Amino acid sequence: MKVLSVVGARPQFVKLAPVAQAMKDASVEHVIVHTGQHYDPSMSDVFFENLNIPLPNIHLNCGSATHGVQTGAMLSAMDGVLERDRPDWVLVYGDTNSTLAGALAAVKMHIPVAHLEAGLRSFNRKMPEEHNRVLTDHAADLCLAPTEIAMNHLFDEGLSERSVFTGDVMTDVCLNVAMRTDIPVHAAAPNGPYALATIHRAENTDDSSRLAAIVEALVAFDRPVLLPVHPRLRERARSFGISLDRGALKPIEPLDYPRMIHALKDASLVITDSGGLQKEAFLLRTPCVTMRTETEWRETIDLGWNALCPDPHDLNVVVSQVTATPTDVAPYGEGHAAQNVVQALLSKWMR
Ligand code: UD1
Repeated sequence: MKVLSVVGARPQFVKLAPVAQAMKDASVEHVIVHTGQHYDPSMSDVFFENLNIPLPNIHLNCGSATHGVQTGAMLSAMDGVLERDRPDWVLVYGDTNSTLAGALAAVKMHIPVAHLEAGLRSFNRKMPEEHNRVLTDHAADLCLAPTEIAMNHLFDEGLSERSVFTGDVMTDVCLNVAMRTDIPVHAAAPNGPYALATIHRAENTDDSSRLAAIVEALVAFDRPVLLPVHPRLRERARSFGISLDRGALKPIEPLDYPRMIHALKDASLVITDSGGLQKEAFLLRTPCVTMRTETEWRETIDLGWNALCPDPHDLNVVVSQVTATPTDVAPYGEGHAAQNVVQALLSKWMR
């Protein structure tokens, strides 16, 4: 069996790590295509190095552009790749423009598509990620769901016959990296209690007054806030004239994955709009506040480890609402999801 993985953005490299290892262990032929959506070395190369991911076989070099232009460039570049490689499966990951382009290219060439992290929903139709995940699930031949809630969403949309529950592959890699003892503490990490923050979503960065309100809340926070700055945040803050280097806020370059996990483990709180980080916070039992109106990872809220903060002015009130009740439940699996993904691909493979 030959599987072609399409990745392009930071969280997809993390998801690829355990999947690539599981493919290798099962002697599956695996071709990796990098769309080039994330191209800065700190957003891309460093993940391949630190997570021991085989280097991409094919690089599309599509880069940044508006959603339509970026997705279209990837889509047209994929045709030649699929024509030449003719995989048994195209595997797409998560909810980025790279995910949608990979799925659409494959489906139009009648090549079976599997969607890893299928069934997640925010029900917020303004989010580009929501368009990408809904369209990809409905194009896919196989929906690989990370949670029971995701399976329920797929059922509600009439997709249950092509859906398989696998658990969450990000849990595999997170639990693995958290056990490593060779990760140095970041030089900028405060000695005492600190919060770790990340902000990158379009709905938070692209409106100047909303971004200013979020930054002000972090600047005035009651403890130091370590802020690895995503390129989108850096660019928008600069163009709106918002300084990130003030008060409690300590901006730093984006962190590689092992350092991020260890900074998260050591933090007393996470403030984020990232999907992955909310879940990683729960796995490492660090309380989390999510600067959004909804989340795809409901379990983190239901279990008391995460709270939504739609209005940045309410940050301090919301922080006090996170109960962080000790629990042993494992809604994201026990760290073997990548093996389940490969098994699902093998068992649905039509020779
Ligand atoms: C994308 C995904 C989002 C994911 C996130 C992780 C979409 C629609 N969104 O958002 O789901 O959570 O990746 O980071 O696919 N840029 C650089 N260097 C880079 C990458 C980006 O400078 O290596 C800048 C560019 O100015 C670009 C902007 O960041 O326009 C945004 O990048 P883009 O890939 O469009 O979306 P993200 O915000 O990273």
